[in-house]
Amino acid sequence: MYVCNCNAIRERDAQKAILSGAGTVKAVFDHCQSRPQCAKCVCDIRQMIDEVCAGAQMAAE
Ligand code: FES
Repeated sequence: MYVCNCNAIRERDAQKAILSGAGTVKAVFDHCQSRPQCAKCVCDIRQMIDEVCAGAQMAAE
């Protein structure tokens, strides 16, 4: 499933980017060597970042 249809970025690609340290939407796009176009996916990618960060915080506690 694509998280960004404009750039054909799959959820797993975005998750891989986030797990590699991409902590911002821009960093996820940079990791995927793409740029936002319509920006409809920005909120979804931000939510994915928040979820991964929350999971990492819970794991650290
Ligand atoms: S869906 Fe990601 S830039 Fe359009």
